Amino acid sequence: MAKDCPAIAIDHLELYVGNAKQSAYVYQQQFGFALTAYRGLETDTTSPLRENRHTASYLLEQGDVRLVISGGLTPATPIGDWVKRHGDGVAVIAFQVEDAHEAYHLAVDRGAIPAVQPTTLDDGLGYFRYAAIQAYGDILLKFVERSPNTTAFAPGFRALSSLTGDMPPLRDHHPLFSQVDHVVANVEAGKMDYWTQFFRDVLGFELLVQFDDRTITTGQSALMSKVLQDPTGRIKLPINEPGQGHKTSQITEFLHYHQGPGVQHVALQTSDIIQTVHWLKTQGVRFLQPPPLYYETVEARVGAIAEDLEQLRTLGILVDRDRQGYLLQIFTEPLSDRPTLFFEIIQRNGAIGFGEGNFKALFTSIEREQEKRGNSYIN
Ligand code: FE2
Repeated sequence: MAKDCPAIAIDHLELYVGNAKQSAYVYQQQFGFALTAYRGLETDTTSPLRENRHTASYLLEQGDVRLVISGGLTPATPIGDWVKRHGDGVAVIAFQVEDAHEAYHLAVDRGAIPAVQPTTLDDGLGYFRYAAIQAYGDILLKFVERSPNTTAFAPGFRALSSLTGDMPPLRDHHPLFSQVDHVVANVEAGKMDYWTQFFRDVLGFELLVQFDDRTITTGQSALMSKVLQDPTGRIKLPINEPGQGHKTSQITEFLHYHQGPGVQHVALQTSDIIQTVHWLKTQGVRFLQPPPLYYETVEARVGAIAEDLEQLRTLGILVDRDRQGYLLQIFTEPLSDRPTLFFEIIQRNGAIGFGEGNFKALFTSIEREQEKRGNSYIN
C-alpha cells in the first residue's frame, strides 16, 4: 500500500543568490514575474527578534508559480555560504501541507534528516508554520502551513509592487506561466536509486517512469532518470544521474560547477508556448537551439499538431507525443554564469511525459554548449 504523502502541492521554490535585488529584477524584467512582497532590513525595524537583519527576500509570483529570491547581507549568513559553494540556485523546495508539524515528524520518523524544527510565526493576521528536512546535497524540503484565513505569504513580508518605483508593472495582462510542471534534480552516479527510495519511503511519492542510459544517450554521453510524483500527480520530481559515456555528461558538468547535487531545471507550464517564448525572446532570454535537422523529422514522428511548425522552427520549440497527447517544450540557457540551473518552458496538449522523443536532440544541443565552455571532458 502507498504511504501517506503529506505534500499537497509545490508552495514555492526559494533561490539563494549573490544579489537578490538584481536577480529579482531579472525575473521580473525577463520572465514576466510580478514582485509582490519583500522582507529585509526595512521590514524588520521593530521586531524584538530582529530575525530579518541578515537576509533580503523578494517574493515573485506568476500564475500559481511562486519564487522567493533570497540573498545574504553579511558574510556569515547560511545563504552566503550556500552561494559561495553552489552559485545561484534553488536551495529550498517548499511543499504546501495541511499540518507542518505532523509532516515533519512523519518524515523524520521515516528516516529523514531534520533541518529546521517546526516553527510558528504569528503576526496577528494569521499564523505561518514551517519545518524542513534535508534532501540531496544542500537542498532543503520545507513543509509550509498557513492559517486558513490568511492570504499573506508569510509574516515579515511586506507588499511591494515593483523594484522600479513608479514604473508600471511589466506584464499586467495574463501570466505567461500557470504552474510549476516539474523540478529536476541531478545527483551523483549511483545515487539516483537512493533518492528515489527516499522520496518513496519518507514522503510517500510514487515512481511514475524511468529512463535508462540506453534511452537517454547522444552516443557520446548518457544519463539515467527516474520520475517521482505525489499520489495525485500534482508534484513531479525527476532525478537524474550520469551514465557511462565517452564524453563528460551534462550531469557531471552540473555536479562539478554546482559542487554536488542540486536542482538542474524548473519546468514552467504555459498555455501558449508560442506567445510566451516570443515574449521571452524580446526580453532577451536565450534558449538552446535544436540541431539543424530536427524539424525535418518532426511531422513523421509526432503527426498532426495544432501549432504552425514554421513558427515552432523559428522559435526553436521542440515537439513530442505520447499516448495521451503531445507537448511542446524549450529550454533556456543557464540562468547564471555557472552552467547549472535553467528553466524549461512546457505546454501540455494532453501529453503526460517529459519529451522523451526530444532527449537526444536536446542533449546534443547541450553537448554543443558544453563544448563551447571547454567542458566535454571533465575528470
Ligand atoms: Fe524537464
